[in-house]
Amino acid sequence: MEVFPISYKTTYQLSLLACALLLTAGCSHPKNAVSLTPDEIVSGTPITASVSPSAIPSASASDSSKGPAATPSTQPVKSGVAASSKPSVGTSTAKPTAKPTAKPTAKPTAKPTVTPSAKPTAKPTTKPAASPKPTAKPGDAVTTIAKPAEIAVWVNKTRKLPADYVPADLVEPNVRFSFSEKLEKRKMRKEAAGALEKLFAGAKKDGVILYAVSGYRSYKTQESLFNAYVKRDGEAEASRYSARAGTSEHQTGLAMDVSSKSVNYQLSEKFGETAEGKWLAKHASEYGFIIRYPKGTEKITGYMYEPWHIRYLGKELAQEVVKQGVTLDEYFNQAIPVTAP
Ligand code: DAL
Ligand code: ZN
Repeated sequence: MEVFPISYKTTYQLSLLACALLLTAGCSHPKNAVSLTPDEIVSGTPITASVSPSAIPSASASDSSKGPAATPSTQPVKSGVAASSKPSVGTSTAKPTAKPTAKPTAKPTAKPTVTPSAKPTAKPTTKPAASPKPTAKPGDAVTTIAKPAEIAVWVNKTRKLPADYVPADLVEPNVRFSFSEKLEKRKMRKEAAGALEKLFAGAKKDGVILYAVSGYRSYKTQESLFNAYVKRDGEAEASRYSARAGTSEHQTGLAMDVSSKSVNYQLSEKFGETAEGKWLAKHASEYGFIIRYPKGTEKITGYMYEPWHIRYLGKELAQEVVKQGVTLDEYFNQAIPVTAP
């Protein structure tokens, strides 16, 4: 059995700040605060997303005694994310049907492109879970994914998950975590959790100790987190490293943020330079994962370099993406050619 070392990285002060920012998240500080660890840290500056106990699913997927998962929101999200409450058969490109709750304060600086920047060397063998429709930039129509439970689901700034999507098979992988609390972010979908266990065991065999930092996040949690980042850094900057609710791979239960003691369990670019980060980049695909936001691909993925964010795709697809040397977005864009709107 694994021992879970306790690492309280978030200071009292930051926790207070987060409580102030996360207005409706039910944060009560400091005694009853549920989450004391940052979900994401950029440039070593942590921010805490505390969520109320009722918004946290139980540690075991089959144990409902500790409270339900977060209530799905049907509210439209602001700035660039269409209000789409009716996922149809197949993929739908939905225009906002309701007024946004707030005016966008700034346009995202990073435009996700729909055009591959590199030519693939081989034909893709796996098709995306849902057919992509051309979507140009944030603020335009957003495609709602019709089959969010597919392992190969393609989520990005213009391809969102239904707000009420919660994976049915979330479990807690038996791996080391950077925190001790029983939070929803421990979880992943069953298949991905099993693969993560194998990945961590493989790393350990090579003398590399990895820590899981943040896995599944509900739509609501992502919403609170993104809003807190916007308050801290402004929308344009926040959009470079955090996803709007509905557009995060963390909602799929197929992503995990990974770190190491050598960088104080932080999610920082420095992790990519550590022995642990290098091991992860080299071996992730052997276990069915990819580094989803590689260095130098912000214009393609829409996000800054995240050496810590791994996405489960299954071995075949992960290895094919790595073999082609492309991002997942490039891979899928050339799998089904996209024409300009
Ligand atoms: N940090 C990644 C992009 C997310 O928020 O899902
Ligand atoms: Zn992540």
